[in-house]
Amino acid sequence: MPFFKEIKINEHTTAYFWKISEDIDWLFENVPLNEKSSTRLQTMSSIEHKKGFLTVRMLLQHIGFTDFDLFYDAFGKPHLEDKSKKAKGKSLESNNQHISISHSHEFSCICISNQSIGIDLEKRKEKTLKIAPRFMDISHLENLSEADKIAKATVVWGVKESVFKLKNEKGISFPNHISESRFQLEDKKGKAHINFNNASEDFLFQFDFVDDYVFVCVMNV
Ligand SMILES: CC(C)(COP(=O)(O)OP(=O)(O)OC[C@H]1O[C@@H](n2cnc3c(N)ncnc32)[C@H](O)[C@@H]1OP(=O)(O)O)[C@@H](O)C(=O)NCCC(=O)NCCS
Repeated sequence: MPFFKEIKINEHTTAYFWKISEDIDWLFENVPLNEKSSTRLQTMSSIEHKKGFLTVRMLLQHIGFTDFDLFYDAFGKPHLEDKSKKAKGKSLESNNQHISISHSHEFSCICISNQSIGIDLEKRKEKTLKIAPRFMDISHLENLSEADKIAKATVVWGVKESVFKLKNEKGISFPNHISESRFQLEDKKGKAHINFNNASEDFLFQFDFVDDYVFVCVMNV
């Protein structure tokens, strides 16, 4: 299946999903890669990883970008080139777009926004609930069915991964620095907080269920 769906987070922020069913050769033929990406792809040993990497580029192409518009900083955070800077002879205002990327088994996802964002896509699984005491306040799981505990623990994991991706700073610990306020699964949104390096910051998160996956998007308040 090609492009799967999009979720509009707000007026300036949209997430795009690809459900991966193509074979690796077809993807390789249909995704032009820059030199760095070609080299990176060659170092990936798992076919699943390669497919995730290539379908992220399919999503970029779907919305009018290519791999040549994408670059990574030293920590591995992806960024989009500011196209207005490339327009010669024109004094365009910067329209820089932010991007965050996640891939998990048969899904890839990118989110584009005019503000800093972090996203995560995570399969719902029992293991996340088992390790919940290591990364979250488990009182937030009280009085829920087993299935909802798994869903909520996966949301919180996704929130912490997303805050981590948004902040992109070394030394952030999920249990020690990032916390979530109480929220209901039905609300599909909530608040998170980071206290790190003597500074604190608040975030809003939104989440959704895509097949058997939890999608989370975090942005500054
Ligand atoms: C970097 C990290 C966030 C990636 O998350 P993941 O769930 O493994 O994988 P995802 O598919 O969701 O995300 C991968 C994408 O994140 C992006 N990414 C990688 N490093 C990043 C960073 N420093 N900042 C923002 N985004 C980053 C990349 O786009 C990457 O995909 P790509 O390289 O193919 O383009 C994760 O590996 C990590 O280091 N997490 C922190 C771990 C931690 O502190 N755990 C504590 C547990 S208590």
